[in-house]
Amino acid sequence: MGLGCTMGLRNTLVVMALLLSGAASLESQAFFNETGDLPCHFPNSQNLSLDELVIFWQDQNKLVLYELYRGQEKPHNVHPKYIGRTSFDQDNWTLRLHNVQIKDKGSYQCFIHYKGPQGLVPIHQMSSDLSVLANFSQPEINLIPNQTENSNIINLTCSSTQGYPEPQRMYILLKTKNSTTEHDTVMKKSQNNITELYNVSISMSFSIPPETNVSIFCILQLEPTKTLRFSPPCNIETIKVEGKESEQTEKRVELQEPERSDEAQCDINISKTASGDKSATHF
Ligand SMILES: *[C@@H]1O[C@H](CO)[C@@H](O)[C@H](O)[C@H]1NC(C)=O
Ligand SMILES: *[C@@H]1O[C@H](CO)[C@@H](O)[C@H](O)[C@H]1NC(C)=O
Ligand SMILES: *[C@@H]1O[C@H](CO)[C@@H](O)[C@H](O)[C@H]1NC(C)=O
Ligand SMILES: *[C@@H]1O[C@H](CO)[C@@H](O)[C@H](O)[C@H]1NC(C)=O
Ligand SMILES: *[C@@H]1O[C@H](CO)[C@@H](O)[C@H](O)[C@H]1NC(C)=O
Ligand SMILES: *[C@@H]1O[C@H](CO)[C@@H](O)[C@H](O)[C@H]1NC(C)=O
Ligand SMILES: *[C@@H]1O[C@H](CO)[C@@H](O)[C@H](O)[C@H]1NC(C)=O
Ligand SMILES: *[C@@H]1O[C@H](CO)[C@@H](O)[C@H](O)[C@H]1NC(C)=O
Ligand SMILES: *[C@@H]1O[C@H](CO)[C@@H](O)[C@H](O)[C@H]1NC(C)=O
Ligand SMILES: *[C@@H]1O[C@H](CO)[C@@H](O)[C@H](O)[C@H]1NC(C)=O
Ligand SMILES: *[C@@H]1O[C@H](CO)[C@@H](O)[C@H](O)[C@H]1NC(C)=O
Repeated sequence: MGLGCTMGLRNTLVVMALLLSGAASLESQAFFNETGDLPCHFPNSQNLSLDELVIFWQDQNKLVLYELYRGQEKPHNVHPKYIGRTSFDQDNWTLRLHNVQIKDKGSYQCFIHYKGPQGLVPIHQMSSDLSVLANFSQPEINLIPNQTENSNIINLTCSSTQGYPEPQRMYILLKTKNSTTEHDTVMKKSQNNITELYNVSISMSFSIPPETNVSIFCILQLEPTKTLRFSPPCNIETIKVEGKESEQTEKRVELQEPERSDEAQCDINISKTASGDKSATHF
């Protein structure tokens, strides 16, 4: 009876192995420095116990992340780079990979074998693709007013740090009462050669439109979701000072220091003395 039963089970298992060897692959996502899930999705329709199974995960280079041999963890075959970084979740047959690095992105496979008297029979296999993300910091605008007199040129840099993958685009949005314009420039990027995280920045010079209140936003467009990340706005306010012809016509740019670091960190007032400038009275 024992033999027949084992043979029956074995045949069933072989059929299962054939049925389940399709090229199914699961997508999985993890954040840098956090924990990622490498699922195996073993249905265990025959309610096999861990004592009867040999389970292991390997990466795309066939390095072993974890092995459970008849219920016992076998660290012997585990590659050093994965030692201490995994935990097996029995409830859903998922391997959790801790302290995920950018280098960990790639494909993984889990294998489940039935350990019978005749040796190992493969009964389940699953691939998963792990992608790794790191959130860029909120973009931050830094305004450098040109101190030269009679100049209303403002230099601006915007930066965002420690993200992954490389963002698609970083640009400036100038918003006035009745218009919104986008300004693009070359995005500078630097990548940390150990963590592989990116820092990105842009710099631009602007001639501030006269008699206009402007809000400047810096926007980071992320991959792969195309999500937009906005900086806090910089507000440039033109204060029209009713002046006499004799007064010195001068635009003055003042930098306002941030009151709170998480608030708009760069409001600027431009005091423009109205003189003979006709456009100044055109409202
Ligand atoms: C990784 O996470 C730990 C806490 O979980 C934190 O202390 C550490 O600063 C993080 N490292 C990086 C590079 O983000
Ligand atoms: C497995 O279960 C754990 C908690 O028990 C959960 O955090 C994780 O998301 C689950 N993974 C899958 C692939 O269902
Ligand atoms: C599966 O087997 C365990 C013992 O190995 C038993 O406790 C459990 O009730 C079984 N579950 C089902 C659904 O057969
Ligand atoms: C990253 O950003 C996403 C979307 O804003 C958020 O859901 C997630 O919790 C963030 N993760 C980390 C680690 O900051
Ligand atoms: C200030 O702007 C003037 C032009 O208006 C330019 O020639 C000069 O180089 C600028 N100076 C700085 C420090 O940006
Ligand atoms: C402003 O930008 C121009 C060119 O974009 C540069 O030559 C100049 O030095 C910058 N001025 C300041 C104050 O950063
Ligand atoms: C938009 O603003 C410009 C100047 O900033 C002005 O000339 C124009 O009339 C305005 N248009 C509308 C529809 O208000
Ligand atoms: C990225 O920015 C962070 C925070 O400002 C800084 O510590 C790090 O050195 C920068 N890395 C690179 C590669 O520029
Ligand atoms: C990373 O870059 C620094 C200089 O930016 C260099 O000294 C170091 O050797 C590099 N490390 C690796 C692993 O390439
Ligand atoms: C700019 O904003 C100030 C205060 O918000 C307002 O008094 C002024 O009329 C605005 N100027 C223009 C040209 O919209
Ligand atoms: C700019 O103007 C606003 C009111 O319009 C005022 O509250 C603020 O103090 C001014 N900032 C500077 C730097 O002058």
